[in-house]
Amino acid sequence: MSETRNFKRYTITTALPYANGPIHIGHLAGVYVPADIFVRYLRMRGREVLFVGGSDEHGVPITIRAKKEGVSPQQIVDHYHNIIKKSFEEFGISYDIYSRTSSQTHHKFSQDFFLNLLNKGELITQQSLQYFDEEAGQFLADRYIVGTCPNCGNEEAYGDQCEKCGSSLSPQELINPHSTLSGSKPVLKETKHWYLPLDKYEPWLRQWILEEHKEWKTNVYGQCKSWLDNGLQPRAVTRDLDWGVPVPLAEAQGKVLYVWFEAPLGYVSATIDWAAREGKDWQVYWKDQQTRLIHFIGKDNIVFHCIIFPTMLKMDGSYILPDNVPANEFMNLEGKKISTSRNWAVWLNEYLEDFPGKQDVLRYVLTANMPETKDNDFTWKNFQHHNNNELAAIYGNLVNRAIVLTHKYYNGKVPENFLFEDEESIYSFIANKRDEVSNHLEQFRFRDALNSMMDVARFGNKYLTEKEPWKLVKSSPNITKGIIYNVLQIIANLALLSEPFLPFTAKKLREVLNIDLLDWDSIGSPLLKTCDMIAEPSILFEQITDEMIEKQLNKLHQNDNKAIIQNNLSDLKPAIKWEDFDKIDLRIGRVLSVDKVPDADKLLKLELDFGGITRTIISGIAQHIKPEEIIGKNVIVVANLEKKKIRGIESEGMVIFAENKDGKLLPIFADDNANPGDKVK
Ligand code: MF3
Ligand code: ZN
Repeated sequence: MSETRNFKRYTITTALPYANGPIHIGHLAGVYVPADIFVRYLRMRGREVLFVGGSDEHGVPITIRAKKEGVSPQQIVDHYHNIIKKSFEEFGISYDIYSRTSSQTHHKFSQDFFLNLLNKGELITQQSLQYFDEEAGQFLADRYIVGTCPNCGNEEAYGDQCEKCGSSLSPQELINPHSTLSGSKPVLKETKHWYLPLDKYEPWLRQWILEEHKEWKTNVYGQCKSWLDNGLQPRAVTRDLDWGVPVPLAEAQGKVLYVWFEAPLGYVSATIDWAAREGKDWQVYWKDQQTRLIHFIGKDNIVFHCIIFPTMLKMDGSYILPDNVPANEFMNLEGKKISTSRNWAVWLNEYLEDFPGKQDVLRYVLTANMPETKDNDFTWKNFQHHNNNELAAIYGNLVNRAIVLTHKYYNGKVPENFLFEDEESIYSFIANKRDEVSNHLEQFRFRDALNSMMDVARFGNKYLTEKEPWKLVKSSPNITKGIIYNVLQIIANLALLSEPFLPFTAKKLREVLNIDLLDWDSIGSPLLKTCDMIAEPSILFEQITDEMIEKQLNKLHQNDNKAIIQNNLSDLKPAIKWEDFDKIDLRIGRVLSVDKVPDADKLLKLELDFGGITRTIISGIAQHIKPEEIIGKNVIVVANLEKKKIRGIESEGMVIFAENKDGKLLPIFADDNANPGDKVK
């Protein structure tokens, strides 16, 4: 239904990235490139568009990162906000405003929005029991609680998820929970929170999405349907946390708005800042029925943008609702899921260091592989292929040939048109492709749109190759002029048609041809006049060599290895005092004998010499270590560990081993010159 409506203006939003790290190609492919293509296209069509973005600066991951680095959350978000903002600028994401949720405007606006819902009676409150760290004196976000996973026994499971077996958890399911703030055992304590009663809005949501928005992409529609079919529950929109937008109520000391409540309101607060700057009225962009609101997001954001945020807007009552939410799936990298923590990613800032000036190449490759309906894969080989065989061989080659010939034959001037008979077929072909691009873009089919654009470049190459003007220039000078004239018109049209996809290249080309960024409807007509001057050619797309690709692959795998090392340190136990370490008495023990423990396939019984004194130690290493590997060797022993009976045998200490990332234990030997009983310090 929405396509047939006539909208007067567009508000286009892009998911606000968390300001706790730089952005990578997955972000760009999923959200920002498609949004920017769409916006540039709308602008060329003369539509009134507002394009907003910004950084999402609240939420628990940011506080965790700050704690880990020993800085304040504000320092973290200041740092990454600037990096992210710069990356978007560098890649030509043409925002009208790129804002941030730590801004005053945003705090005030989201607090007012909350109060308004509260005063309208839309919110409910509930008491619940939540873990509280008595030593730290604060409630614990799920991520701040670690304990044993009830499903797989992993002792390092988080309060919201076990990363070993992947099951999602609630903190109270953890066995033996402890706080990552103080290490202490948290206690359950009553707390009050404010909730959105989503259940009340379920019938309305079913009607609005399932009946009135059947045109949404199937991946989006399907996810919404499954949420709705499972039934909606009230959802808390406040948290006990000290980083975020404070809940504006006296009784809510120490509470903030849930990040997923306030972050989408950042689209509105960004609009407010933009409108103030531009002297406009922000309200028409959010409240006028003739404004078309579209959210560009990745698939993990669907429920928030299709169910929760629209419900908030509906509760307020004065807002328009998103007309479409063209969410993409994920972009993988070399066959594996992109992972920030493992550094399996191509970071935008690093890409530009290695490929300066090649923004459009990446934009092109990400569009050609855009994960529109299913996850897709980015590979460096494919990147090279698209650059060399398409951008350079088709687009760049056409432009280069046309300009070189113009200089060679006509001193850089557009020749006269002596070939009127070709015109009709050329311009109708281009106009047709222009409409194909429009149709695809309006259906959010970016890959198809890109392809239709490239058809014009293919067409131009074919025209030039078939006409062979270089063979005619002596014998038929007028026909040759006509051919070159037509080819120049084709590349001028290409300079407009490719603007949404390849904005840097299109601009360069327009500068060479001396044409303005004309509107979309002028595509499909002659854009240059005879005698117009054309600048000297410059290479639009250089070859990407095998060495360049190998370098990237090496870097990626190196990063991966480094990340594993960092990762091991990322689960470091809380710091201990010097005095605590001093309590541990480590000694050299020499292994005298190793025996199996009857009926225990994991245990070995070791006899160790401590300089005249022999001790027995039971060790769970039978599956990792062969007796002959350690007999006669000097190992390191925790010598003052309390004694413990294991299988009826008294164990007097513990031998230490290294554990690799696969969980295999490896022996640690001391130098042969050390003597049994020596201290280890
Ligand atoms: N920061 C979120 C993410 O990266 C997206 C927030 S979108 C908004 O998944 F709507 F909340 F702004
Ligand atoms: Zn588990």
